[in-house]
Amino acid sequence: MQLLKERILAEGQVIGNDILKVDRFLNHQIDVSFLNSIGQEFFQRFKDERVTKILTVEASGIAIACITAQYFKVPVVFAKKGQASNIEQQVYTSEVYSFTRNATYKIMVAQSYLDAGDRVLIIDDFLANGRAVLGLMDIIRQAGANPVGVGIVIEKGFQEGGALVRKSGANLQSLAIIETMKKGQIVFR
Ligand code: G4P
Repeated sequence: MQLLKERILAEGQVIGNDILKVDRFLNHQIDVSFLNSIGQEFFQRFKDERVTKILTVEASGIAIACITAQYFKVPVVFAKKGQASNIEQQVYTSEVYSFTRNATYKIMVAQSYLDAGDRVLIIDDFLANGRAVLGLMDIIRQAGANPVGVGIVIEKGFQEGGALVRKSGANLQSLAIIETMKKGQIVFR
């Protein structure tokens, strides 16, 4: 997505060799009208998949999922992180290891919000090592639902997530794929 690449080049900040800050428009301050273009782009790419639900994980995925869901006219379900203290219902859970944070956390979705007949589109802001997406796919599998696609705003192509998710057979669509960002220089695939 050309507009996204331009925005990353203009406003993204590279931290070290592998972290990209896009706080100015995507995951701290949010440019809603720009997010709207992202939602439209995801709709174009997945509109034939008969999506019935969009699934993401808190926190940064929620805004992107919601704006995308307006085009599909389907509900958003977001996986919650941490212990299930405030959820009384039966839940699907999966464990996610975060390389960025060097910690394992649990994600959970109440069973009542994912049905066996659902055709689920996963949406998230970043794809790094892919563990969050694989955890969401595990939850979809537990529900007996059908994962019909994975929409990512920024894939860091030099980390293993893209390969892992594609190997799983998922229809992965990343709107921008960064090949490298050594010495502050961003190169797209
Ligand atoms: P993985 O799911 O692909 O394996 O990624 P990883 O655990 O390594 O990433 C942990 C968190 O860091 C995720 O956010 C992910 O979106 C975010 N992240 C990874 N790489 C980058 C990056 O280069 N820039 C930015 N800005 N974020 C990155 P999270 O734990 O889900 O937190 P939240 O921010 O959504 O609450």
